[in-house]
Amino acid sequence: MEIVMSGIAKAFGTNQVLRDVSITLKEGEVHALMGENGAGKSTLMNILTGIHKADAGKITIDGVERTFPNPREAELNGVAFIHQELNIWPNLTLLENLYLMRPKRNKFGMLDKKAMLEEAQNTCRELGIELPLTTEAGLCSVGHQQMAEILRILMLDAKVVIMDEPTAALTERETATLFKMMRKMKARGVAIVYISHRMEEVFSECDTITVMRDGHTIITKPTAEISVDEVVRHMVGRSIDEFYPARTTTPGEVVMSVDNLKPEGFDNEISFSLRKGEILGVAGLMGAGRTEIMRAIFGVDKHNGGTVTVNGSVLNCKKPEDAIKAGIAFITENRKSEGLILDFSIGSNITLPNLGDICPSHVLDKG
Ligand SMILES: Nc1ncnc2c1ncn2[C@@H]1O[C@H](COP(=O)(O)OP(=O)(O)OP(=O)(O)O)[C@@H](O)[C@H]1O
Ligand SMILES: [Mg+2]
Repeated sequence: MEIVMSGIAKAFGTNQVLRDVSITLKEGEVHALMGENGAGKSTLMNILTGIHKADAGKITIDGVERTFPNPREAELNGVAFIHQELNIWPNLTLLENLYLMRPKRNKFGMLDKKAMLEEAQNTCRELGIELPLTTEAGLCSVGHQQMAEILRILMLDAKVVIMDEPTAALTERETATLFKMMRKMKARGVAIVYISHRMEEVFSECDTITVMRDGHTIITKPTAEISVDEVVRHMVGRSIDEFYPARTTTPGEVVMSVDNLKPEGFDNEISFSLRKGEILGVAGLMGAGRTEIMRAIFGVDKHNGGTVTVNGSVLNCKKPEDAIKAGIAFITENRKSEGLILDFSIGSNITLPNLGDICPSHVLDKG
């Protein structure tokens, strides 16, 4: 299946996201789609799969002009999309999520759970991945949820597979498995769109690179004929010596110090200190405990020993409210489920952490 998108334009209100974007997806080719945050990569793929409608431009599939009315129709026609954000039903098991759109039934028309479980287990075994298939998705790690979504798409036998930042939540091993699966699909002639900010992955796994900027496709080149520097230069639209501008701030005195903190379920004690005006990066693989340290500091989870000191006083955060009072804010890993109440307005969400300030006499002061 060959897909040609040409002259695609799309605006959201006054935000002209895509002006003139063209891309060709070929059988058996892994095509990297790159661009800075907000460049319109996801939007372009949303247009291809019928989530959004383009304002202008043309899509042809094997030479015939065609648009999909919705993602389901795209999927039925072999164009599948693994989204950047998790799209999983948290109250269904991973297995139920895998088969939700195409359940297996027995001869009486009843759901054949046994057959589904067997097939899913076999596929996992073949691919060398371990998934808690019968656990509710909402109780699984983000990595397992993401792997299940990838698996669901792979089991569809699609002709074109779009992967939007698929490795963001995967472990090194899961990432290696994904690449193995991608190579298998490629050999079968599947066209893959690979959206990622990770240069290493793009350069090792992709055949072609397209860079988008300011609503245009700036360049499309075989990976072998382009360098990392060139890609970055096209992404940011200026030379890369400015990509990491020289720092002008000098961090001040220590404002927070974490000493021998032991998040629940971890054997190692963690210590670090944070200074005024400093951005401290915490690196590590999935499962290394990065999220857990932060959750323990913020009082979401318990910890077994250790102290957190802020501005000289030792904190005893038992719940997030205590941490907020101490002036700590936390932006969660899974913002859709832990960071926001999606059916509240933006205003209500913003004011939630400090309701006390806007309802002095226990009545909300909406003004
Ligand atoms: N449904 C929507 N309604 C309004 N604006 C949108 C919508 N979807 C995307 N946008 C806007 O379109 C622009 C492009 O967003 P898009 O998500 O396509 O970028 P992206 O290249 O995928 O970025 P990232 O690398 O951060 O995923 C952004 O300014 C975004 O705010
Ligand atoms: Mg995106």
